Amino acid sequence: MDSRKRLEELRLLLAEHSQRYYVLDDPVISDGEYDHLFQELLEIEEKHPEWITPDSPSLRVGGAPLEKFSQVAHRLPMLSLENAFGDQDLLAFEDRLLRFLHQDDPPEYLAEPKLDGLAVELVYEGGVLIQGSTRGNGEVGEDITAQLRTVSSIPLRLRKGDRARLEVRGEVFMERAGLVALNGQRAAAGEPLFANPRNAAAGSLRQLDPAITAQRPLRFFVYGVSEPSVSGCRNQQELLNFLADLGLPVNSHVRFCPDMATVISHFAELAALRHELAYEIDGMVVKVNDFSLQARLGSKARAPRWAIACKFPAIQATTRIITVDFQVGRTGAVTPVAILEPVDVGGVMVSRATLHNGDEIERKGLHKGDTVLVQRAGDVIPEIVKAVVEKRDGSEEVIVMPTSCPVCSHPLLKPEGEAVTRCPNPHCPAQRLRSLVHFCSKAGLDIEGLGKKSVEQLFELKLIQDLPDIFFLKKEDLSSLEGWGEKSAENVLAAVNGAKTPSLSRFVAALGIRHVGEVTASLLERSFHSLESLIQATVDDLVEIEGLGEQVAQSTVEYFSDPAVQQMFVKFQQAGVQPQVESLDKKKLLLSGEVLLFTGSLKKLSRTEAKKMVKDHGGEITSGVTKKLTCLVVGEKPGSKLKKAQELGKKILTEDEFLQLVESV
Ligand code: IVH
Repeated sequence: MDSRKRLEELRLLLAEHSQRYYVLDDPVISDGEYDHLFQELLEIEEKHPEWITPDSPSLRVGGAPLEKFSQVAHRLPMLSLENAFGDQDLLAFEDRLLRFLHQDDPPEYLAEPKLDGLAVELVYEGGVLIQGSTRGNGEVGEDITAQLRTVSSIPLRLRKGDRARLEVRGEVFMERAGLVALNGQRAAAGEPLFANPRNAAAGSLRQLDPAITAQRPLRFFVYGVSEPSVSGCRNQQELLNFLADLGLPVNSHVRFCPDMATVISHFAELAALRHELAYEIDGMVVKVNDFSLQARLGSKARAPRWAIACKFPAIQATTRIITVDFQVGRTGAVTPVAILEPVDVGGVMVSRATLHNGDEIERKGLHKGDTVLVQRAGDVIPEIVKAVVEKRDGSEEVIVMPTSCPVCSHPLLKPEGEAVTRCPNPHCPAQRLRSLVHFCSKAGLDIEGLGKKSVEQLFELKLIQDLPDIFFLKKEDLSSLEGWGEKSAENVLAAVNGAKTPSLSRFVAALGIRHVGEVTASLLERSFHSLESLIQATVDDLVEIEGLGEQVAQSTVEYFSDPAVQQMFVKFQQAGVQPQVESLDKKKLLLSGEVLLFTGSLKKLSRTEAKKMVKDHGGEITSGVTKKLTCLVVGEKPGSKLKKAQELGKKILTEDEFLQLVESV
């Protein structure tokens, strides 16, 4: 079979299997077989990039980063919903409907879970996803097509895709477990946490680099179309069945309700079920089922008359702040934690809540001894909403941030303009212990048997003091310890041995550099193909990388230039630790070992494209004409860089020559 035909066949096969896996939860081939087919598709596309279509599964991994989001006007506005807060409001909603319709017999309803995520519109033409956008202000949203293509449960091609244009709407969201894991990574990297699934979904979709979105565990459920009348369906229930037949994921807790009494009892059922779902719902959306009734009811300015969102009560409780602890994190950040009188918040006992930092305490005006309102935000992290000021009796005490480290007594710093108070002492035992725990954890090298407890034990016994020490552990050190034996010592040593060749990105993420989490680490791996060149990178080199900001660049360079860190790397080397660069056979690559720089204005390529080409071919990009540079590519009106490169005798290519070179392979 010719490869173009095969590519088409692979696209269809992969779409079918991905649908079975992500939408129907009914796979018929193994992950390995899927990967195999995917690899075959990638190989053909690599040879023939001109054959890549907008529904190619390869777009699921991200594609090229954008410079900025462009705007998309929705052909028909995306409306919002009015809120209801319980049975009385639902009955009043039905009263309003009947009055508006001038009729006595109540309509039938469809009740759907209200998903806590971000509303998006997906446009399919000829069955192929051609555009995806955020709701924005309802009239105009942002074009996030590339980002949405990475969401596995969004079909890139519909099952029966003959109709000209279909605009579907639904919610993109993150599962609770995905959010907890993501926040774990962010906490480890010293990045701010997402307070709820909606923020996490929005933050993940609004990434200019879709490769970052691709790494976030997002899901999608469809709940409607822009124009129900053109679907040929008579009611919302038929519409959802129709959309499911097209391969779009429909939530399984949607319920047909012949009357309002059923709606109300379903609301109670859904409220009880809510904690068992893998994702967060914040209420139930009630829709008049019949489309002709919907059309008669029409809309008000921002919301339709035929639907309402009935919200669950917030999960809150009151308790008292007993005292405040100050914890020193891996990066030295000192976090105040309120120790609470234990209280049941919606089925979960809460006895601590983070107060984030001194500014936050001041903003909320909290005192020790205060009675406070706590809630589980997005059902994930307990937080203090406010102090109940009326309950104060004068015994409350002001919460004062410490001025010296509670662990090592080193004076603390609070840089101007930053909210975080930090212990700057890199030898602070708290920081060292936390780094070790992170290094061995799932977010780090994932060394089985070296969980938090074991690492704490080994640290206290001074068997490990810095990261490389892990690789010098001996069997006799471990087997005689309390709670250990021959077998567990052997297992841990085997795991440690296996961790000597991590991928470069995993290793970098494990180091716990400030602001460098898993995502940044893989950006770094993609741009630097060895640990050595990463260590030598300058801030200018790093900010060249799309998706990597000044702050991250600064802290990365600061980290690697610290003499103590350099010493640590010598020790890593002695231990035989060798991070590997995955999936890149550097030797075979055209630009391996080459360090390029573009100057002047390019006519055929954007800077981003040009840089991507260099990286895809194994080359590196630098920011100035230095000794390291091997080749300068010049566009129109090159500046002083050309002269300097000529003086240094560097190789010079025009844009066309560069393109010819790259396209020659
Ligand atoms: S229907 C005109 N159905 O709730 C119909 N919305 O405040 C408007 N939402 O922006 C939307 N689950 O993000 C609908 N099953 C569902 C929903 C749902 C969540 C969100 C959606 C919308 C917001 C309305």
